[in-house]
Amino acid sequence: MSETFRRATAADLPALDRLMRGVSAYHGEFAPMLDGYSLTPEQFARDIVVMAEAAGQALGFYSLIIEGEPELDLMFVADATQGTGLGARLFRHMAAEAKARGIDAVKIISNPPAEGFYRRMGAERIGTKRPKGRITWSQPIFYLRQTG
Ligand SMILES: CC(C)(COP(=O)(O)OP(=O)(O)OC[C@H]1O[C@@H](n2cnc3c(N)ncnc32)[C@H](O)[C@@H]1OP(=O)(O)O)[C@@H](O)C(=O)NCCC(=O)NCCS
Repeated sequence: MSETFRRATAADLPALDRLMRGVSAYHGEFAPMLDGYSLTPEQFARDIVVMAEAAGQALGFYSLIIEGEPELDLMFVADATQGTGLGARLFRHMAAEAKARGIDAVKIISNPPAEGFYRRMGAERIGTKRPKGRITWSQPIFYLRQTG
C-alpha cells in the first residue's frame, strides 16, 4: 500500500477522532475505554502523533508520549486496513522515533485483543494493570526495549 506517514497536527484531530471511534475493537465490551475520552490540541503539540494516510484519507495513527515515562498512548488502524501490515509499519515508525530521541524503553498498556500484536512486534509483557474506574478489565502491560 502506498501510504505516507507524517506528524499529525491539531488540524487532523477531527479525522483521527473519527478513525479512533470507528474502530470496532472499541465498540461493545471495550467501549468504556473511549467514553469521555477526547483527543486534545495540546496532545498534538506535546506528544509525537504520527498518522498514515493514502489519497488524503487517514488509515491509522499512533501517539507516543515522550514527557516523563515514554509510553505508546494510542495506536489505531482503521478496520478496513487492519491485517495489511500497517500496524507493524506504524509500530516500527514509533520505535524509530523513540530511538532517535534516545528513548530505550517504551511502556505499552494494551487493549486485551491487541496483546498478540505487541508480542509479535517484539514487546515484552511485564505485568497486568488491574481494573480501575470505568476500565473493568485487566490490561496487559508491555515494554518495548531497544538497545544498540
Ligand atoms: C492492533 C492493531 C494496531 C494492529 O494493526 P494491524 O494493521 O491490524 O496489524 P498488522 O497487519 O500490521 O499485523 C502485524 C503482525 O501482527 C499480527 N497481529 C496483528 N494483530 C494481532 C492480534 N490482535 N493478535 C495476534 N497477532 C496479531 C499479524 O498477524 C501480523 O503478523 P505477521 O507479521 O506474522 O504477519 C490494529 O488491529 C488495531 O488498530 N486494532 C484496534 C485498536 C487497538 O486495539 N489498538 C491497540 C490499542 S492498545
